[in-house]
Amino acid sequence: MSAEAVAEPTEDRSRYAGVLRFYELAKHAEWKVDDVAWGELPPVPEGKGSPERVARRRDIWRSVVMQQLQADIIACEMAAQLLNAAPDPEARLYYSTMVQDESRHTEAWLKLIGQVGGEGERDPHLDRLGRMFLEADSLEEKVFLMQVFFERLIIPRFRLIARSSRGTILEEICNRLAIDDGIHHGSGMAYERILLEHAPKKVKGRLIDAANRMLPEFAQHALWRPKAREFIGSLMESRDRERLHQELEHGRRLAASLGLDVSEVHLPTL
Ligand SMILES: [Fe+2]
Ligand SMILES: [Fe+2]
Repeated sequence: MSAEAVAEPTEDRSRYAGVLRFYELAKHAEWKVDDVAWGELPPVPEGKGSPERVARRRDIWRSVVMQQLQADIIACEMAAQLLNAAPDPEARLYYSTMVQDESRHTEAWLKLIGQVGGEGERDPHLDRLGRMFLEADSLEEKVFLMQVFFERLIIPRFRLIARSSRGTILEEICNRLAIDDGIHHGSGMAYERILLEHAPKKVKGRLIDAANRMLPEFAQHALWRPKAREFIGSLMESRDRERLHQELEHGRRLAASLGLDVSEVHLPTL
């Protein structure tokens, strides 16, 4: 047999360079839960005034932490699905780091919520979003919903929480997660571009349908307030809606940048 006959077909993997770059970035940005200044900073902003006021403030922060904990537990399952479903070695390598990230995020939230009174009320919209991701049929749809949309839409929320919780463990975790989720989003954009290069029209159409199912649920998630936060809910609502509208607009632009026909994407009326 000639050497030529046994030679592996040399495949050009250069289109995956972008995904590999995010793998390197993820390795570089890796941190440990022990790196957080536990014990040196207060877990969440401390309330002043009567014991009732202090307790009520703590309940508000606890509900903020609970929502993020819930999101990251779902993200663990999602990242594991992506790792299992992705056929490309570069993407699998990348997803092996994302599984670790989401599980580290969960560990940090579990530790933090233990310091503010334990787990509380679940956000039902987040559970529904989770089911949408987990039950999506195709890899294209999972990457699209989770990394292109959700991870991107959540970043401004981290910045917002960090701004209102200066000098606390909560702020530190939010800052770390905003960086990690930026990498999760960027890698998803890079991979989705490759996946969609040769995708039939039907697959692209299904992505638009998925976006139309997801965006209203995301909007309700963003505006949802547990009992503990109901009273500040009404104060913030108009600003929240304005901000949310801009975020959803941004989501639509992201879909357009992937070459999708977004004329059929309907932004929920807020
Ligand atoms: Fe996360
Ligand atoms: Fe993430």
